[in-house]
Amino acid sequence: MDKNEIYETIFRRKSIRKYDQDTLDEEILKDIQGEVMDLKPLIPGIKTEVLLISSEDVKTRMMKKAPHYLAVFSEEKEGYLTNVGYMLQQMDLLFSANGIGCCWQGIPTIKDHVKPRSELKFVILLAFGNPDEPLHRSDISEFKRNPIEKMTDITITDENREILEAGRLSPTATNSQAWFLSGDDSCIDVFTTKPNFIRSLIAKKYIPIDAGIVIYQIMVAATHFKQNPEVVFKEGIEKKGYIYCASINLNPDRK
Ligand SMILES: Cc1cc2nc3c(=O)[nH]c(=O)nc-3n(C[C@H](O)[C@H](O)[C@H](O)COP(=O)(O)O)c2cc1C
Repeated sequence: MDKNEIYETIFRRKSIRKYDQDTLDEEILKDIQGEVMDLKPLIPGIKTEVLLISSEDVKTRMMKKAPHYLAVFSEEKEGYLTNVGYMLQQMDLLFSANGIGCCWQGIPTIKDHVKPRSELKFVILLAFGNPDEPLHRSDISEFKRNPIEKMTDITITDENREILEAGRLSPTATNSQAWFLSGDDSCIDVFTTKPNFIRSLIAKKYIPIDAGIVIYQIMVAATHFKQNPEVVFKEGIEKKGYIYCASINLNPDRK
């Protein structure tokens, strides 16, 4: 699949919820299998498995059906949800860049007969197929997102504007955007907001996944601007009301 426009796709992608129910060609599905094998983890020590399944394998729970789904399974180690977010967002952007619609699916789940296909814990689905609605946004104003000032206390400069913007536009479950970017012009620290009790009942699983998504989109943008970024996990980083996730060191070579 073509990876040349992954960065540009951040600025036009959207969740697709209406699909042509025809299955994709075998050749395309084979390509997708290949891409799935090639996904880069955020935390390499965590075992994951991604299965390509069909609508017959999914309890859609009132959501519209898609012809195909990626079902992600993982070992339950520290950071595993953020790792899944980071990995599956690679497929979200890749699908969108290659004319295929997709949507993260936290509400639907796999049917019981799929569970024995992996020894790992089922985490989440990504629906995909040919879109039966426009694949892309035609203007950035169509993104429903908080303004950048609400999401960061980093001083915005010409150098970091597009990188922070790539983070801002990340998809999140229920569009909660429950994360915050701190740091400076060489390192972005990613935090998630501490949900209140009621919200944590619903969002506990999704907020760390959302953090993995934002980390990936920032990495794509920083790489686009040739900054050779790397993700680091710092010790002892605290911010009142937030939980620290990870940092993106924008210029590790400059240290
Ligand atoms: C972890 C996660 C779970 C999601 N679960 C669902 C879902 O179950 N059903 C749905 O319609 N959309 C789901 N979404 C899509 C979000 O609602 C969507 O990304 C958000 O509203 C922003 O819209 P956009 O993706 O079109 O930019 C999910 C997104 C994420 C990141």
